[in-house]
Amino acid sequence: MTTTENTGADPHASADGFPAASAGSHLLGGDRPVHRMGFGAMRLPSAGWDGPAHDPERGIAVLRRAVELGVNHIDTAAFYFYGDIAANDLIRKALHPYSDDLVIATKVGPGRLPDGSWMDPADPAELRAAVHRNLRELGRDHLDLVYLRFLRTDGPGGDRFATLAALRDEGLIRHLGVSNATPGQFAEASAIATVAAVQNRFSPLARDHAELVDLCAARNIAYVPYFPFGGAGAPDLSALRHVADRHGATPAQVTLAWLLALSPSMLAIPGTSSPDHLAENVAAAALRLDADDLAELDALGEHACRASPGRRDLRHRP
Ligand SMILES: NC(=O)c1ccc[n+]([C@@H]2O[C@H](COP(=O)([O-])OP(=O)(O)OC[C@H]3O[C@@H](n4cnc5c(N)ncnc54)[C@H](OP(=O)(O)O)[C@@H]3O)[C@@H](O)[C@H]2O)c1
Repeated sequence: MTTTENTGADPHASADGFPAASAGSHLLGGDRPVHRMGFGAMRLPSAGWDGPAHDPERGIAVLRRAVELGVNHIDTAAFYFYGDIAANDLIRKALHPYSDDLVIATKVGPGRLPDGSWMDPADPAELRAAVHRNLRELGRDHLDLVYLRFLRTDGPGGDRFATLAALRDEGLIRHLGVSNATPGQFAEASAIATVAAVQNRFSPLARDHAELVDLCAARNIAYVPYFPFGGAGAPDLSALRHVADRHGATPAQVTLAWLLALSPSMLAIPGTSSPDHLAENVAAAALRLDADDLAELDALGEHACRASPGRRDLRHRP
């Protein structure tokens, strides 16, 4: 994987003045402009799958503030809930009626029972039901972007991706994506219908399937890294402190700036339930790393991958 220096005037920069616009925009699926700094809603209901619960009013305030800062790409899923607090409900309560420029992306594939336990991977009929559930919960007549979220046990996903393509043809979905996908699953889906976005785990210290990052960059397909700060628990980003100090930035901001520097089609969706972290994360859209920073961060990643080849966070379910 190559990292390009992201300095000076950004050809993709937007002139609309919002902090989230400082890293520029990407035309999702060729027709939906989104600022490259977005927001992930998974952390709003609770800190982890087993809690503790977060204050729903604070979640609503974080969502409204994100939009005020220019975020117009929010990532969610119907399975992001804890007890009776659900990310989709918080989004609807905070932001409905939605502004025309807001893109809400959701995922189908995994399902959770009301008690929080995980179901078997969804079959085509269950995927259809999951799309309708997202429509209902979000209060929309169509979904902007729906990912087929693969599970580690999944093999080919052709019939399920074809189901989503049919729902797109029916007008219920605008664009399709794949998440947690191997290069083989991505290729299979691409042969069925246009893949507008790939959402896989990726961060300076965990570079799974880096070849997909390059492929998406080459084809101008959105690449949306999840777990930018490493996932599971409080992030340990101390390895990035040296670069952060050079810029008077935080390690979290360096993480996001590094991701955004990888390609113009890289879209950040950092998740937080904290208004302060939200402001910090969105401000990272303006941080430009230089060649020395990028070289140092590349070396960190190589070290992490050598220390733990194919590293995966096994604490994360699904
Ligand atoms: N497709 C998939 O399979 C998949 C899987 C996981 C996530 N996702 C999506 O990807 C998004 C991003 O992932 P994630 O939120 O789980 O990422 P993450 O890398 O795990 O980061 C979130 C964690 O970092 C903390 N944090 C956030 N901003 C921070 C900052 N500036 N300084 C210090 N700590 C900070 C959060 O705590 P606070 O709340 O205290 O800030 C939370 O503990 C999710 O929200 C979700 O939309 C998708």
